[in-house]
Amino acid sequence: MSGATGAVDRSALMHTYPEPPVTFVRGAGTELWDTEGRRYLDFLSGLAVTALGHAHPVVAEAVAEQARTLVHVSNLFGNVVGPQVALTLDRLVGGGAERAGGQVFFTNSGAEANECALKLARKWAGPGRHVVVSTWDSFHGRTLATLHATGQASKHAPFAPMPEGFEHVAYDDLDALADACDPARVAAVLLEPVLGESGVVMPSSDYLGGVRRTAGDARDGNIYIASDQTREQSRESQLGRKPERHECITDDVDFEQDKKEREDDEEDDRVEGEEGCEEHPTILAVA
Ligand SMILES: Cc1ncc(COP(=O)(O)O)c(C=O)c1O
Repeated sequence: MSGATGAVDRSALMHTYPEPPVTFVRGAGTELWDTEGRRYLDFLSGLAVTALGHAHPVVAEAVAEQARTLVHVSNLFGNVVGPQVALTLDRLVGGGAERAGGQVFFTNSGAEANECALKLARKWAGPGRHVVVSTWDSFHGRTLATLHATGQASKHAPFAPMPEGFEHVAYDDLDALADACDPARVAAVLLEPVLGESGVVMPSSDYLGGVRRTAGDARDGNIYIASDQTREQSRESQLGRKPERHECITDDVDFEQDKKEREDDEEDDRVEGEEGCEEHPTILAVA
């Protein structure tokens, strides 16, 4: 072992990734230190995860306080903090002051967030409409389902066969998406608004609005799922209520409606005409 990996014995770790060039031992705010004591400016933030920086005293104290108070109670019982955090997230999605009226499901990772989104989409769409359309060059996670949603054939090959029900179209190609969105079979479109792992690839300015309309125009309306893991602030990802670059994208989280309510909403959508995208259900899968 050499350089900044120092004397760390990695032999008991499964070799799923190449040897890291650097091993970090601590961080403070935007800075990191490696095993050799070298200081780095952290532009990567995990993979866009440490939005609050490293070792912020308030965050550290909150984590420690919770660990001192109650560690885990399983999903068989309630706790006080989960509902509070859900309310806070819903207010933030709503712009800070008012609630957006959505509901939160907590997961441990981006892949689990997407798994949950896929299951919700299938449940919402009902039997027979289970196909999820995503784009080539996308990345959606490492579980089998999210791996197949991931549009990179080289990543599928070692783990074949992939679970059934995933199809891919070219990114930033509305015609290809429209062709794929067969309303008799398709439950959802799963999309990185900006491609992350394949480079920071921005779509054309009319793409996200077009995706929303394509998904919404299909019979019964598909669910459009935005997988937004690396750009968690909805405004930055043009998923906010007042998008600066992309049109017609809202952050309604509305997937809990039963069939009757949905039919009523679809009637309202038809009355609203082209602006009907405001009512279209969206799941924000954010890790
Ligand atoms: C767009 C996107 N979706 C999903 C994931 C999976 O997240 P996780 O690694 O937390 O499972 C990632 C991870 O980088 C991602 O970039």
